[in-house]
Amino acid sequence: MEKDYLNLIRNAAFPEGDLGAEMIEGMNRGHSDLTDWGFSHVKFGNRILDVGCGGGAALAKLAIQFPNAHLAGCDISPLAVESAQKINEQAVAAGRMELKLSGVPHLDYPDNSFDTVYSVESLYFWQDAVAGLKDILRVLAPGGTFMTVLEMVGGNMSDHHEEIAKELNMFCPTPEELGQIVQHAGFIDISLDEDREKGWICITAKKPWFEA
Ligand SMILES: C[S@@+](CC[C@H](N)C(=O)[O-])C[C@H]1O[C@@H](n2cnc3c(N)ncnc32)[C@H](O)[C@@H]1O
Repeated sequence: MEKDYLNLIRNAAFPEGDLGAEMIEGMNRGHSDLTDWGFSHVKFGNRILDVGCGGGAALAKLAIQFPNAHLAGCDISPLAVESAQKINEQAVAAGRMELKLSGVPHLDYPDNSFDTVYSVESLYFWQDAVAGLKDILRVLAPGGTFMTVLEMVGGNMSDHHEEIAKELNMFCPTPEELGQIVQHAGFIDISLDEDREKGWICITAKKPWFEA
């Protein structure tokens, strides 16, 4: 893999600088179909959080689709938060969207504060995926829905994706592993969908109404 390409790709984990800006633009465009597919699995509530929002294109879609929803997005990259703020300027100014520098497993939101939490292409990079999922469970309201969608899935990756995963030390779970960690984190009603041709996976799960 060429060094220049690798330097660019590293910004998927933490976008920064000029290459980060380039990567953000690429992800905003390149993740659009995957995001739509993920969203097609969710019945959105009114308070929605995007974890690892990157450049904010997914939130921009929801701002159009759900003009009355309260939208929040967070990312650990200052450049990502800035970029998301820029493309969602109107919704932010109108008080319908809030973006902040924050991430799992230390989400800067109160317990039980969202009806829907989703994450597109971010879980690979969390230092501890189960701890991240538990933190999402914490901020979800009882009965709330979590969804994540990934295009690099263990056991069904192109050689190119295998190489990227290795170089970036990414955690690319198999569908079974993803189901197991979501269950282990405390979610219920777990539902998994795969597009084997595209190599995509989407999981949805709920926070129990009552503590076990
Ligand atoms: C591949 S990008 C995907 C961005 C966006 N969701 C999209 O689909 O275009 C992964 C994003 O996850 C963010 N990220 C990595 N670790 C994170 C964490 N622990 N909490 C929140 N965001 C994180 C990165 O900064 C990066 O913006």
